[in-house]
Amino acid sequence: MRQPRRTDGAGIHQLISECPPLDLNSVYTYLLLSEHFADTSILAGEGDQLEGFISGYLVPEKHDTLFIWQVAVHANARGKGLGKRMLSQLLQRPSLEHVRYIETTVGPDNLASRGMFNSLARTLNAPVLETPLFDRALFGRHGHEDEPLLRIGPFQSL
Ligand SMILES: CC(C)(COP(=O)(O)OP(=O)(O)OC[C@H]1O[C@@H](n2cnc3c(N)ncnc32)[C@H](O)[C@@H]1OP(=O)(O)O)[C@@H](O)C(=O)NCCC(=O)NCCS
Repeated sequence: MRQPRRTDGAGIHQLISECPPLDLNSVYTYLLLSEHFADTSILAGEGDQLEGFISGYLVPEKHDTLFIWQVAVHANARGKGLGKRMLSQLLQRPSLEHVRYIETTVGPDNLASRGMFNSLARTLNAPVLETPLFDRALFGRHGHEDEPLLRIGPFQSL
């Protein structure tokens, strides 16, 4: 597991395209994430064998809060703890040791994602608070389910 690099952008785009229900963003988005948000993102695998990816960023003006944007584990690698391990590794980076909260949005029906974040919260011994954030109406005519906010924390460093 390592930080993403500029050369990973196209491979990440391919991985995300194979991981519904994630929204597929442009290759350019993944290039930007790899270039500017590598400190808060993580990749598992190499070349065209990418197994997992997480994009995240520190919330502006809430620097103790790591927002997790997309989590993807390739179907062949699921159910082996990779998603949770990538989250744990991120939290163990020296540059993120001050983080006390994780925020993310998770659709109501995404049981795998909910299972992963709840499992992380148990490991961190931290509460999980769920509140409305992006309701489906905010997505306009692009059909999309609600994206409520999950806030995990406060927790001590791993
Ligand atoms: C969500 C996802 C990243 C989970 O990755 P993973 O590597 O399979 O998850 P892990 O093996 O690390 O599992 C971590 C915990 O979640 C639980 N979990 C994983 N998949 C689950 C499922 N389908 N249903 C219920 N719980 C599940 C595991 O039981 C585990 O709990 P435990 O630690 O108490 O045993 C993966 O399923 C995925 O990429 N899905 C498609 C994209 C997606 O929905 N991303 C998240 C959007 S926010």
